[in-house]
Amino acid sequence: MYSTGQLVCASQGVLQLPGMLGSMGIQRAALLTGGSSLDRSGWRARIEEAFRDASIACQIHRVKGEPSVELVDDITREAKEFHVQAVTAVGGGSVIDAAKAVSAMVCEPLGVERYLEGVGDRKPSGKRVHFSAVPTTAGTGSESSFNAVISRIGSFKKSLRHEAYTPDIAVLDPQLSLTCPPSVTAASGLDAVTQLLESYVSVRAHPITDALALQGLCLAGSAFDKAVRDEPDEDFRAQMLLAAYLSGITLSNAGLGAVHGVAGVLGGMQDIPHNIVCGTLLFEITAASIRKLESSGYRDGETYRKYARAGCALAGSSDTCTAEDGIPMLLNTLSRWQEQLVRPRLSEYGFTKEKLKRAAAASDCKQAPVILDAGELEAVLLSRL
Ligand SMILES: [Fe+2]
Repeated sequence: MYSTGQLVCASQGVLQLPGMLGSMGIQRAALLTGGSSLDRSGWRARIEEAFRDASIACQIHRVKGEPSVELVDDITREAKEFHVQAVTAVGGGSVIDAAKAVSAMVCEPLGVERYLEGVGDRKPSGKRVHFSAVPTTAGTGSESSFNAVISRIGSFKKSLRHEAYTPDIAVLDPQLSLTCPPSVTAASGLDAVTQLLESYVSVRAHPITDALALQGLCLAGSAFDKAVRDEPDEDFRAQMLLAAYLSGITLSNAGLGAVHGVAGVLGGMQDIPHNIVCGTLLFEITAASIRKLESSGYRDGETYRKYARAGCALAGSSDTCTAEDGIPMLLNTLSRWQEQLVRPRLSEYGFTKEKLKRAAAASDCKQAPVILDAGELEAVLLSRL
């Protein structure tokens, strides 16, 4: 297990962060934020004021969409010229990934593409400046993981990864996600659920990641429906933030599965948000994996039992869990969330039958316990066209 950084779980906790940075002697920082929702809610002004109060000169950058190679290199160049001592992200997973990459690349001599897994020719040194992350959506778990996903649309979507990249401080502040639209809350939440489920059944899972993943699934199961209602409730938002945070730890330690194996390929082909891919594929890929286990005669195996336990956790009945109860609970819950909350189809993002056939052939199932072959993945993708 790698260790995570300092964790602050508090309403308005984001306003404590600049003072914490100031007490460490930090005087110059880069602040990366997302789109206009932080402006509309008034939080941007309050956060900037907190940095001024802490006597920290702040260079501000806005990140729109998922981080590209060019975006990371541009911000890194400006941050180097500003001699930043720290990078802070306040935003969704894309903002946190971009900031994580910038915090590392200000200490490297070359552009980020040279350090990306499967694309670059260099290994990251692990050097970086201080990095803190404040998620405004509960989804990717980037605030507790040590990789950042960077893409060049039409070409690739790859990770910048080093164990030293885990944020020094993560702030889970439910106030920041109160104004998040239900559709974004739902899609982000399904990314977190996907990460928890995939790392829970992963072939690299171990008792510690199992405990964290199962706890995350319980939190998500009890909060998901309430968090996506269009009525602000800090408790349910806080539960989803914690579930996402746990998913970042479990994915970093146990790995992921077929949904993320396919998501990486689809995200490199077309401009489609990562959480939409997860939300639209999670049920179908889980159902296909369970069908394959059943047809292979593995109903008595540990993987099948784990899928059942995950179903009971999501349904809030983990005390008395049998495979007969848990498997239908899992599939019913995931199906309901997919159909009710995440309606987009892959065709809306420019995918065709031909593109999906190529994507299936190029995908792998990562650390999944059930390997779906290209034909099986293609059938799943076509069902979501
Ligand atoms: Fe994800």
